[in-house]
Amino acid sequence: MTDGYAVRAEALEKRYGEKRALDGFDLTVREGTVHGLLGPNGAGKTTAVRILSTLLRLDGGHATVAGLDVVRHSGEVRARIGLTGQYAAVDEVLTGRQNLEMFGRLFHLGGRRARLRAVELLDQFDLTDAADKGVGKYSGGMRRRLDLAASMILAPAVLFLDEPTTGLDPRSRGEVWESVRALVAGGTTVLLTTQYLEEADKLASHITVIDQGRAIADDTPDGLKNRIGGDRIEVVVAERSDIARVVKVVARVSDGEPESDETELRVHAPVADRVAALTDVARTLQDEGVRVEDIGLRRPSLDDVFLRLTGHRTDVSEPKEAAA
Ligand SMILES: Nc1ncnc2c1ncn2[C@@H]1O[C@H](COP(=O)(O)OP(=O)(O)O)[C@@H](O)[C@H]1O
Ligand SMILES: [Mg+2]
Repeated sequence: MTDGYAVRAEALEKRYGEKRALDGFDLTVREGTVHGLLGPNGAGKTTAVRILSTLLRLDGGHATVAGLDVVRHSGEVRARIGLTGQYAAVDEVLTGRQNLEMFGRLFHLGGRRARLRAVELLDQFDLTDAADKGVGKYSGGMRRRLDLAASMILAPAVLFLDEPTTGLDPRSRGEVWESVRALVAGGTTVLLTTQYLEEADKLASHITVIDQGRAIADDTPDGLKNRIGGDRIEVVVAERSDIARVVKVVARVSDGEPESDETELRVHAPVADRVAALTDVARTLQDEGVRVEDIGLRRPSLDDVFLRLTGHRTDVSEPKEAAA
C-alpha cells in the first residue's frame, strides 16, 4: 500500500499572499528511516511539515503519508502520525508523568492504559528519575524528550519532528538525538527538520535540502558532504600582504583550491587529512614568520552547503545556542 515510502510529496505549493512558502516542493521518505529536511529559517520546513501532518491546506500538488492522501484521507493520516513542534506543548505545572497520562487520556487510552503507557515512555526517554518532578524544573533537553514522548503516545507510523533541538545546548541536543535513535529502532519513520548540517548528518540516512520552498538537493549525508568538500582548514592572518603566501602554503595540503577573503583576511580550503594538514600549515607559517591571528579546522555548516549548492549564503546566521 505504501510501496516502501512513508512520505511522498509532489510539486507542493503553498502561498501566503504574494509569498510562495512552498514552490514546487518534492519529497520522498523511505519507511523505517530518519529523513532530514535541512534548510535555513524561512525555507519552508514548517510549512511542509504542517501540510504533511494535515494541519495546513495545500494550494497545489499532491502528498501521501503512510500511503494515504493528506487531503482526502486527513483523518486516517492523523491517526498514523505524531508531531512535535519547535516549542514544547507540555504543561509546566504538572509532573512529567502527569503530562504523559493527560496526553494518553486525550488520545482516549483510558486511565489504566494511559498510566501504563506513561511508565513505558518515561523509561524509553530516560525520564523515570524525573517522572514526579514538576516540568518547570526540567532542563531544556528533558523537556524536549518529554515532548517527544508525548508525541509517541500512540506509537505513530510516521513522526514529524520540527527542529527538535533548536535552542538547546550541545548536551541536551545529544540527549534528544539518543531518543530519536531509540524511536527509529522501534520502527517509526521520522521526518526531522533542522538548520544544523551536523544534526542531519548524525541522525538521517537521507537529507533533502530546502531553499525558498523548493528541494535543491536530495542525497545521503556522505554524498552531500562530498559535494561540499568535507572539513576545511581556515587561517586568519594579521596582514593583508600575507594572504598570497598563506594561499600557497595551504594549497600544498588542501584537497581543492584554497579560497581567500580579503576583507576578513581569511584563507580556507577543503582538507582530507585534517590533523596532518593543520600541523603542516601551522608549522610552515611559523617557520616563514607569517603572523597568524587564528588557525583551525571547521566542519562544514549549513552555510557551506548553501554556498556550494546555490552560490549564495543563507541570509540568516546559525541559530544561537541557548543555555537550557
Ligand atoms: N502564516 C503565515 N503567513 C504569512 N507568511 C508565512 C506564514 N507562515 C510562513 N510564512 C512564510 O513562509 C515562508 C516559509 O516559512 P516556514 O515554513 O515557517 O519556514 P521554516 O520553517 O523553514 O523556517 C517564510 O518566508 C515565512 O515568512
Ligand atoms: Mg520552522
